[in-house]
Amino acid sequence: CTLSSLKAQDLFTTAPPPEKPPAPILQNIDSRNSHSLNGTWHAMIDPAVFSLNDLLHFAERHYQPQAGELVEVDLENGLTLRVPGDWNTQDDRLFFYQGKVWYKRDFYVEKSEGQRYYLHFGAINYRAEVYVNGTLVGTHTGGYTSFNCEVTEQLREGSNLLVVKVNNTLSSDDIPTPRTDWLNYGGITRDVHLITLPSSFIENYKIQLAPGQDDFIQVSIRLNGATSGKIQLDIDELNIHQQVDIQNGDGWLEISVKPELWSPESPKLYEVSLTYESEILTDKVGFRTVEVKDRQVHLNGSPVFLRGISLHEEAIGSKGRASSYEEALELLKYAQELNCNYVRLAHYTHNRHMLRAADELGLMVWSEIPVYWNLEFGNPQVLEKAKLRMEEMIHRDQNRASIVFWSLGNETPVSPERNDFFAALNRHVKSLDPTRLTTAALVFGGEEIQEMAKQYYFPAMQGQTIEKWDIHIKDELAQIVDVAAINQYFGWYYSGFLASAANLDPLVARKVMLDNMSKIQFHVPNEKPFVFSEFGAGAKRGLKGSSGEFEIFSEAYQATVYQKQIELIKNQIGLVGTTPWILKDFRSPMRLKQGVQDYWNLKGLISDNGERKQAFFVLRDFYQELADK
Ligand code: GCU
Repeated sequence: CTLSSLKAQDLFTTAPPPEKPPAPILQNIDSRNSHSLNGTWHAMIDPAVFSLNDLLHFAERHYQPQAGELVEVDLENGLTLRVPGDWNTQDDRLFFYQGKVWYKRDFYVEKSEGQRYYLHFGAINYRAEVYVNGTLVGTHTGGYTSFNCEVTEQLREGSNLLVVKVNNTLSSDDIPTPRTDWLNYGGITRDVHLITLPSSFIENYKIQLAPGQDDFIQVSIRLNGATSGKIQLDIDELNIHQQVDIQNGDGWLEISVKPELWSPESPKLYEVSLTYESEILTDKVGFRTVEVKDRQVHLNGSPVFLRGISLHEEAIGSKGRASSYEEALELLKYAQELNCNYVRLAHYTHNRHMLRAADELGLMVWSEIPVYWNLEFGNPQVLEKAKLRMEEMIHRDQNRASIVFWSLGNETPVSPERNDFFAALNRHVKSLDPTRLTTAALVFGGEEIQEMAKQYYFPAMQGQTIEKWDIHIKDELAQIVDVAAINQYFGWYYSGFLASAANLDPLVARKVMLDNMSKIQFHVPNEKPFVFSEFGAGAKRGLKGSSGEFEIFSEAYQATVYQKQIELIKNQIGLVGTTPWILKDFRSPMRLKQGVQDYWNLKGLISDNGERKQAFFVLRDFYQELADK
């Protein structure tokens, strides 16, 4: 720092640096000339709510303090962290940590004339500042989508210094807000690559069937650098060898061809290659159509029931954030064992390996951004953030046949601002990708629960028998999206709320609820098809219990809830799928019952170590029955 900044306040700053928007997303990094920067990085926990200005100057220098020089930061010795990986599971001081951690590594480059260089991050949760040789090259907020920064100018021949400042602190105007029922894993949680590119290159492309047409492929390609040129598209197995003409940076091509369609039963993927000058991108792309027709979801023109399960992005065996292809396969193999044809990747965009694996295994996907619970829906900046997260998700995954739903959000409180927010976001998603369906999980509760209690539940508590419990969904969000999604927890939460509201015996209340679940029938206006995007119950693996005892957190009780939920499912008209909550127990700061939960949400059908609970087999057999129909 210079003499003028000796005044104390100049040594510290709470203001983050100016935003430096990342470069447009590079698609399909696995097919690029990339060098992995994964591995063990130096790190330093920086818990102060301000940042030492001179830390950045320090970042500029590969430096050892000179004799007599006072330095109070150190990114060379001490803590190291594995990248990719959340910091929470790597150091006890960081388990619940919300704040800043500085990462640093060196890397070696042999720069070639005319080449361009990008740093690509699979995700950093939540806010990132990226410095190369002391210069800020990019900032990004959003913990679950990829971003990349061009570093061509800042890179030096030989050794380079990469410093990344990560802050996982969330504010009320972030997406999500600090209120989440999952642990806010911080850090460089996904792969890091240095990508070498020619001076002009294919930045992004989409190769998909036209909406609702199984014999017409639309190709769009964006070039970075040159504004015109020719790109060779080859899909040998379809005998496609065509040139795409690029004008003003963009190219478009339509091809009449009838490919073998991708489906869960036959997840056909085609080898696709795009050649532009010295760069050849190869990809594996599936072709399928998905649409809503006659109150059903049609895959390749035929109605399909979505036999799903929800997942968080947590690896099996207490390893925290999943980030590898192997971990993705390990999780999705359980979904296959459940006879699933579909998975809900909650509540945020998962790593790219999950989507590749779903494409290969034949699992349809609900993919979402973490518009979760109580966002500042009236804040225009929050809508802009949501649109950006959607663009990042769609630009990375728009060629993944497995994705059938883009989900706009989860369980958000109803208000006019929130409805306007979703209407705008839905329009934006449709403009980015008209080939997929939109959905969003409603928060089923409030008004509908009160009405149900008055009309049916309390009379049932008085011993009245009412054969049909009609529940009318009022949430306008159901009309904004293509397929409505309802999170409902009959058998778990509701009888508790109602018992305490009406001063009823909780055990009696629970039994009455279970006895009547099969009578419940949801009605979504305008015959909108709907899914149950969540239902379930918690159970501690090994706490067996016995059916009929209604022991909360026993496996037997969780299995009972699943049996009753299956009866409820069979009673629905217009239901097109279910994703029970959830495949695996997952970490949450909200689940505090010591000795039972211990910061784990226990609604998993398998424990964190992958042990199957009784309810796993109840769902598996039900889905087998559906698959056999
Ligand atoms: C909600 C929410 C989930 C949460 C679940 C639960 O439906 O969407 O994120 O984990 O309920 O209560 O376990």
